[in-house]
Amino acid sequence: MTTTNKFLKSVKEHRDSKKVEKFQGKLKEYLQLLEKNPAIAVLAHKRLYKQIMSEGMFTLDETNKRCNKLFNGESVKIYDYFSSQFFGMERPLEKVMRFLHSASMKGEESRQVLLLLGPVGAGKSALIEHIKMALESCDPIYVLEGCPILEEPLHLIPRSLRDEFTEMYDMKIEGDLCPVCRHRLINEFAGDYTQFPITQASFSVRGRKGIGVVPPMDPNTQDTSLLIGSEDISKLDLYPEDDPRVLSLNGAFNVGNRGIVEFVEVFKNEIEFLHTMITATQEKNVPSPGKQAMIYFDGVILAHCNEAEWNKFKSEHTNEAILDRIVRVNIPYTLEFEQEVKIYKKLIDRSDFNYHIAPHTLEVAAMFAVLSRLKPSKKVDALTKMKIYNGEEIVESGLIKKVDIKDLRDEVEDEGMTGISTRFVMKAIDAALADSTKNMITPISIRDSLIKQVKEQIIVSDDRKFFLQFLQKTLHEEYLSLLEKEITKAFVTAYDEQAESLFNNYLDHAEAYVNSTKVKDRVTNEDMEPDEKFLMSIEEQIGIKGSAKNNFRADITSYMFAKLRRNETIDWRSYGPLREAIESKLVASVRDISRIVTKSKSRDTKQKKKFNAMVQTLIENYGYNEDSAEEILKFASNNLWRDS
Ligand SMILES: Nc1ncnc2c1ncn2[C@@H]1O[C@H](COP(=O)(O)OP(=O)(O)OP(=O)(O)O)[C@@H](O)[C@H]1O
Ligand SMILES: [Mg+2]
Repeated sequence: MTTTNKFLKSVKEHRDSKKVEKFQGKLKEYLQLLEKNPAIAVLAHKRLYKQIMSEGMFTLDETNKRCNKLFNGESVKIYDYFSSQFFGMERPLEKVMRFLHSASMKGEESRQVLLLLGPVGAGKSALIEHIKMALESCDPIYVLEGCPILEEPLHLIPRSLRDEFTEMYDMKIEGDLCPVCRHRLINEFAGDYTQFPITQASFSVRGRKGIGVVPPMDPNTQDTSLLIGSEDISKLDLYPEDDPRVLSLNGAFNVGNRGIVEFVEVFKNEIEFLHTMITATQEKNVPSPGKQAMIYFDGVILAHCNEAEWNKFKSEHTNEAILDRIVRVNIPYTLEFEQEVKIYKKLIDRSDFNYHIAPHTLEVAAMFAVLSRLKPSKKVDALTKMKIYNGEEIVESGLIKKVDIKDLRDEVEDEGMTGISTRFVMKAIDAALADSTKNMITPISIRDSLIKQVKEQIIVSDDRKFFLQFLQKTLHEEYLSLLEKEITKAFVTAYDEQAESLFNNYLDHAEAYVNSTKVKDRVTNEDMEPDEKFLMSIEEQIGIKGSAKNNFRADITSYMFAKLRRNETIDWRSYGPLREAIESKLVASVRDISRIVTKSKSRDTKQKKKFNAMVQTLIENYGYNEDSAEEILKFASNNLWRDS
C-alpha cells in the first residue's frame, strides 16, 4: 500500500468514527435520558473534575521512597491526567484538584476564580492548556439547539415546576433561559417549551466551543464586548433595539459557558474590565450587551499572572471585592533537580531532536536551575540543600546528624518563586547545540553556554554574581566529582561487585564493633577483631573522624537491621553516606592509574590498551558516543588531575 493509500484509510476510519449520531430530541427525550443518567446535567466544575479524575488517581504514602523523603511522609495525591506531563508539581496540582473538588460539590469554591500565580515559565499556561484539553475528551453535552451559549436544556423548565422537578429527580435546576432562546421560545414555539429542539455539542479549544480565552488587553482598547459580546450593528436595522436577535453573544463568558473561561495575565487588565468577574462568580450571571436581562453563566474561571502583578493588584484596597473571590494557588518552579531534568526531556522530545546528549548534561543544567531558585539556609550550603531537596540522604561532612528536609523547608517561605526558568535553560541548550561542531551537547558545553547567557541576560548584578559562582565554582566541582566517579566506574572492572564487597565487609566489621563481638572471616571461618584500620579507611572518605565514628557505625548498623527486619533488601547503595564513602574509596584506589592513562602523552602500549577499553565501556555502558567520551576525558585530564 502506498503511503497515501494508507493515510486515506486512516482518514476514512477517522471520519467513520465521527459519524456517531448526534442526539436530536425534545424535552421528553432529554428527560428520559436524564432519568437514566443524571450525570449529563452536571454543572461545569463537576464535569471537569470528573473528567480529570476518570483518568485515575493514586496516593503516594510513606511506603514510597520519594514521598517519604520529599513530602515528610505526608501522603501526596498523584493524578494520572497530569503525571506524564507535569513534574515536581504534585503539591500545587493537589491544590488545583482540591479547588475543583469543592467547587464540584457546589461549595464556595464554585463561586470563585482559580488564580495560578507563579514566576515566568513555571508551567502556568501549560497547565491551563492541559486542563482545557480535558474538556475536549468529555462526552458531548446536551444543549438547546442554536443557543449561542450552549445552554443547558433544563432551563426550559419554568420556575413553577422546579420544586416538583427537584423532588422527583433529586436534582436542582440552576439558571434561566438566555434572551436569545427565550425570544425563540415565545416567537417560534408560542411558549411551548416541550417543543424546543435539543441537541448535542462538544468542547473545542480551537473552535471556541465551551472554552473562552481573555488575553491581556491594552487599556485603550479594553472593551467589555470581549467578555460579554456585543450588539451586531448590521442587524440593528432589521430588528428593534431590544430584540435579542441583534445580540452577538461571542464574548469569553458566552463562549466559555458550560466549560472554562481563562484570563491570561489577568491583572494586566484595568480593574473596571474585571468587574464582570464579580457578577459571574458571585451571582453566576453576566451582563448582557444592550438592554437585555443578565445571562446565567456556569463555568470554571481560571486566571494566571506573575507575582509582581499580583502584589501590585493586591496592594490596592479598591480591589478587595475581586480579591475576595479568588482562590490562589502558587505554581513555583520545581526544586527537585531530577524532576527538572524530566521537564527538559519532555521539551526536547517535542522538538525535532536528533543530537547526542552526553550523560549528566541535563542534570548539570537542572542543578544550576535549582541552585538559582533556592533561598540560602543557615544549616547547610546551597549544594547540600539542593541534594537534600532531591531526596538524597546527606550526612554533613564530619557530622553524623542527618539534616532533615522539613527543617530546611521551615527556614524559608515561598521558595521556588524566583530564579532561573525552564525556558532560560532550554535557550542555553539550543545555543550550546548551535555552537557545537559535533552535533552534541555535553555538561561542559551546557555550562559554558549557561555562563554566557547569564552574563548577557541577567541584569541584577547580585543575581548575576551568585549564578556565575554556582556555574563556575559549585557546579564545576560537583561535575568533576561526578566525572571522576564515572571514569572510575569505567576503569574498574566489576565496579559493582567491588563496591558490594567493600559494603559487606564494612557492615560485618562495623556491626562487630558496635556489639563488641568478633567478626567471622568469610573464608576461613576464624574469629577476628573488627578491623579498625579498614573501617577508618572508609569513614575518612566522608570526613568522619574521632568519636563521630561510634555514632556513624551505630547508625548504619541499626539502619540496615531495621531494613532487613522489614524484609527490604540492602545493598551498597542503601545508605547515602556509606555509598558516598565507598565510591570515594574506589575512586581513590584507581586515581593514579586513571590520571596516567588519561594523559595522552604518557601512555605506553599497555596503558593505551587500558585506555581504549575504558573508552569502550563509557560508550557501551554509560551512554557516551566517541566524540563526547573524548571531550569529557580531555576535560578530566585538564581539570581533574591538573595538580598532580
Ligand atoms: N513542572 C513542570 N512540568 C512540566 N513542564 C513544565 C513544568 N514547568 C514548566 N514546564 C514547561 O515549560 C514551558 C514553559 O511553561 P509555561 O509557558 O506554561 O510557563 P508560564 O508559567 O505560563 O510562564 P509565563 O509567566 O512566562 O507565561 C512549557 O512548555 C511547560 O510545559
Ligand atoms: Mg504563560
